[in-house]
Parts: sequence; C-alpha cells; structure tokens
Amino acid sequence: MPADVIIGGQWGDEGKGKLVDLLAKDYSAVVRFSGGNNAGHTVINEYGKFKLHLIPSGILHSKVTCVIGNGCVIDPNILIEEIKNLKESGVAISSENLIISDKAHIILPRHIEKDLAQEKARADFKIGTTGRGIGPAYMDKVGRSGVRMESLHKWPKWSAKLGKYIKSTEKILRDILNNGENIMLEGAQGALLDIDHGSYPYVTSSNSTIGGALTGTGLIPADFRDILGVFKAYTTRVGEGPFPTEINQLDKIGKHLVEKGKEFGTTTGRERRCGWFDIESAKHSIMINGFNKIAIMKLDVLDGIEKLKVHMGDVSEGAPTSKYETITGWKESTFGITKYEDLPNNAKIYLKFLEESLNTKICIISTGPERDQTIHI
Ligand code: GTP
Ligand code: IMP
Ligand code: MG
Repeated sequence: MPADVIIGGQWGDEGKGKLVDLLAKDYSAVVRFSGGNNAGHTVINEYGKFKLHLIPSGILHSKVTCVIGNGCVIDPNILIEEIKNLKESGVAISSENLIISDKAHIILPRHIEKDLAQEKARADFKIGTTGRGIGPAYMDKVGRSGVRMESLHKWPKWSAKLGKYIKSTEKILRDILNNGENIMLEGAQGALLDIDHGSYPYVTSSNSTIGGALTGTGLIPADFRDILGVFKAYTTRVGEGPFPTEINQLDKIGKHLVEKGKEFGTTTGRERRCGWFDIESAKHSIMINGFNKIAIMKLDVLDGIEKLKVHMGDVSEGAPTSKYETITGWKESTFGITKYEDLPNNAKIYLKFLEESLNTKICIISTGPERDQTIHI
C-alpha cells in the first residue's frame, strides 16, 4: 500500500500540523523525515490545543504509530519534555506508538551554543535561525562526526527515558507497507526553506522537499502515491531572507494578516512576516516536489480585505518589476465553512484563480484552525 506525503509549499507554518492531525485517521503510521524542534505545529481538536515540535502530529490518534525518521535531528531534552507534556494532557505514549530511528542525529548542547554564536557573528547577515542547534547538528552529520540516537546508551539520563523508543525504522516502515497499510510522511518547514531548493543561504539545513522524504525514511519512489502541497491563502516567513510579496507590518493589510492570522511563531514566538500569495514561488515548489494536489489553508484570514493581490512573477524589461493581479475580496465571513458552495462568490473566484494559475487541483480548503473547519473537494 502507498505512502502519501504532506509538504509545505512556502516558508513553513502553512498549517501542516492541522492537516496531518485531520488526515491521520486513515494511516497506520505518520513519519517525520526532516528537521527537528525548529518546527512547531499547533493542533487544535476535541482534546484541546497541542504544540508539537518533534513528535509527528498523528500522535493524537491512538491507533497511529508515530515515527521520527533517520533524516531528523533530535534534541533529547526537548523530546523528553514533549513526551511528558503530552502524557500529562492524557495522550498515551508507549514504545508501541512512538518509534525513533536509531540513525537520527542527536542535537547536543554544543550545537545550540554554536548556532547562537554563528548567528551573533553573522551580525547584519544573520539567517534568523530558531537557535535550536539545527544547522550545527546537520554540519556534524555531513562532516561524519555526528552522534546518532543508537549511541544514546552512552548518556544514562537520556537513554533511561528514550532508549525504549529507539529502533531501526526502515524495516518497520517497509513491513507496514507490505502488510497493506498506509503511511503518511509529515513534512516540516517548507519547500522554500530547503537547503538545496530554497532561498539559500536563508534556509534550514535539511531537505524539506520530496527528496528528503526518501532519504529521511528509507522509503523508495515507487511507494509514493499523493504528494500534497500545503499553502496558506497568503504567504508568511519567519527569519531573514528575500520575500518578494512582503507587506509592511505597519500597513493596514499587514496588521490585518498578523492579527487575524495570529502570525506568531509556534517555536520562537517571533512575529511572522506576511505578504501576498506568490504564484511564481508556488510554481517552483510544485515543480521541485511534484505536488499532484494542493491544500489552501487559512482562507478565513483574508475575509474583509477589499482587494487581494497575487504575485504572478517578475517582468524584466529594463529594471525588473513585479507583476501582480488584483482580485476583489469578500466581506462575508468564511470562518468554519465546511461546504464549497457556501463560500462567498469572490472567495471561489480567488481559489479558482490560484488553481488555474498553478495548474494543480485544490483538494482541501481550510477555514479555521480546528479539524472540522475544513472543506474537502
Ligand atoms: P511548521 O512545521 O513549523 O512549518 O508548522 P505548521 O505548518 O504545522 O503550521 P503552524 O502550526 O506553525 O502554523 C499554522 C497556524 O495556523 C496554527 O496556529 C494553526 O492552528 C492555524 N491554522 C491552521 N489552519 C488554519 C485556518 O484555516 N484558519 C486559521 N485562522 N488558522 C489556521
Ligand atoms: P533553523 O532551521 O533554526 O536553522 O532556521 C533557519 C531558517 O528556517 C530561519 O529563517 C527560520 O526562521 C526558518 N525555520 C526553521 N524552522 C521553521 C519552521 O518550522 N517554520 C518556519 N520557519 C522555520
Ligand atoms: Mg510552525
């Protein structure tokens, strides 16, 4: 049976956590394949509000096995804390439903120190990392001086708490597929933060795109069925780096997006930079990932904006200028709408415009942070 992949199409925080939690019931396993606790997913469902960083967002489904794949980097202190917090919220976690790859690399305290020191040294050219030691941990991995989870037994404090979850995960995943069951791969960050295909050097240190889903799990291309790209109905970015459609945060619309979208980082609390939807970069994400379907999240955040702009690309006659299309917005609330036909006409026009410009089917529209505030098409 197949593996479906969920990948952020922008600069992260598209709402992958909500989607994974929503869809996980149809899968036997949910697997993280890249990144570490730089990620932050907010999941709101009938059990409450959860902030997850390392543990896959499928953990709130009792029958789903959650796997932290070999492509991830793990800060044991954060993982121990996350397990504790989830257990205190009533979520059952055992070595049956949480498995950590023995080949995932450990983020050590020295990696965090180095991350912070490097950022300080970069001064005006800083990347705006999350300060969680991600880059230096991956540097050690690639430099062949990293420490993998299989060596955790050398740290009694950590191995006592995490040892039972550590296994070789490639074979476990293969057996699940051979057994006729489905696997979901949960991307972290977004395609434009990918170390190779993103806005280098303002990127994270792993492959957050489809290639990472292969190398970060040991699955093979023939296993993949759907590759679902997740986009916000607008764009956000945390940290430094180019952002062609950015809107000044002090501008009326900039403020609207930050406040209505609650655009503050789940991991660092930093205010996210906000801007218009960017067709050009979305097409790039679709091309490098092979998205065959897309989800548009946070449509409700655009309610009440009179004129919506969409960046189509740059025209370079003489000095390059950005080309925008303007689409009339809608006054009505879309919050919580669950049927496509109930959307305001202008919202339908906006969505159709995105779908046609991207030449990729929109299969899910999200109209609020909760599981059921979703339109399936
Ligand atoms: P990373 O893995 O860190 O890239 O994050 P993510 O893609 O899981 O997204 P994150 O949870 O950081 O950010 C999305 C935020 O939007 C969360 O606070 C969600 O609760 C919220 N959210 C998701 N979908 C919707 C929606 O349709 N409408 C509104 N208003 N909020 C939403
Ligand atoms: P790092 O991954 O901590 O090294 O940060 C590198 C860049 O990726 C910075 O711009 C971060 O803000 C950004 N980043 C890393 N993880 C996330 C995420 O989960 N959501 C949004 N941005 C992220
Ligand atoms: Mg996030």
